[in-house]
Amino acid sequence: EAVEEGKLSQECKELLLSLPKEKGWRTSHLYKYQGFWCQSREIESTVSFQRHFQARDTNVGLATVPKSGTTWLKALAFAIASHERFQIFSNNHPLLKFNPHDLVPFFEYKIYANDQLSDLSNLPQPRLFGTHIPFASLPSSIKKSSCWLVYICRNPFDTFISSWHFINKIKPRSQAPMPLEEAFEMYCKGVIGFGPFWEHMLGYWKESRDRPHKVLFLKYEDMKKDITFQLKKLAEFLGFPFSVEEERGGVIEKIAKLCSFENMKDLEVNKSGTSIKNFENKNLFRKGEVGDWINYLSPRQVEQLTKVM
Ligand code: A3P
Repeated sequence: EAVEEGKLSQECKELLLSLPKEKGWRTSHLYKYQGFWCQSREIESTVSFQRHFQARDTNVGLATVPKSGTTWLKALAFAIASHERFQIFSNNHPLLKFNPHDLVPFFEYKIYANDQLSDLSNLPQPRLFGTHIPFASLPSSIKKSSCWLVYICRNPFDTFISSWHFINKIKPRSQAPMPLEEAFEMYCKGVIGFGPFWEHMLGYWKESRDRPHKVLFLKYEDMKKDITFQLKKLAEFLGFPFSVEEERGGVIEKIAKLCSFENMKDLEVNKSGTSIKNFENKNLFRKGEVGDWINYLSPRQVEQLTKVM
């Protein structure tokens, strides 16, 4: 991380000096920026995003806590928003050849990463973006515009286990794996990328209550239980409702299948490719289940996290 921090802009290095810091999960430190724990590079790109992004009313932002179903939500929203351009039944559908993170870029890891500005003028309409940045830190142009935001929330028990597995998989082999107990204590204190998770969820949840036609709050577990219903809801919210003919023709089921964990995990691009920050796509697909935490947490840990929640 020392190398990474060396590459930061002078302005960002100075900002970091003024922020509280804690030991990180993967990088040596997490810094508390605007109330949330972030890696140094994430702070640099968030500042740039806050300064430069000009929202359009037709933009769609997909927001999540890491490991709560970001990849899935990106795939579903892309399939819905592009279903007139790309036939869902086609063998050439982009979701068969690209990872969802390549089709729906992250503000903080792609567009505003490395202190660079990407040209957004060629992105097809509606422009779809992903982010882990909490609601409070979104640029004012997003808050003032009437672009849509979709949030996906997942049971913190599962999000914790998913994060712990993921971090240990992407850590360089030269670093020791992070013990579950240590990660758990940090998680309960809110010290995890874009944590505390409860503040993150509350920020978007409150906004979805105040502006329900502009902020949709979805739950991973509801989507696992009834994807057809949730997909219809998402499509209507985004302004792409399915016609009766499309429904009869099985479009909803086809999108659900195309974006399903089982299908995506086995695609060549997701078995061997890399997308965000050169991480291997295969690590984005683990089990895709609800309730796997039961296999890892002790009764004491369950009680402790329940109290936090
Ligand atoms: P598990 O580690 O519990 O399996 P994110 O996309 O935000 O990084 O979240 C990753 C989690 O979502 C992982 O959870 C991953 O397996 C699961 N996931 C990935 N693609 C999915 C899909 N198409 N449907 C359901 N879950 C999916």
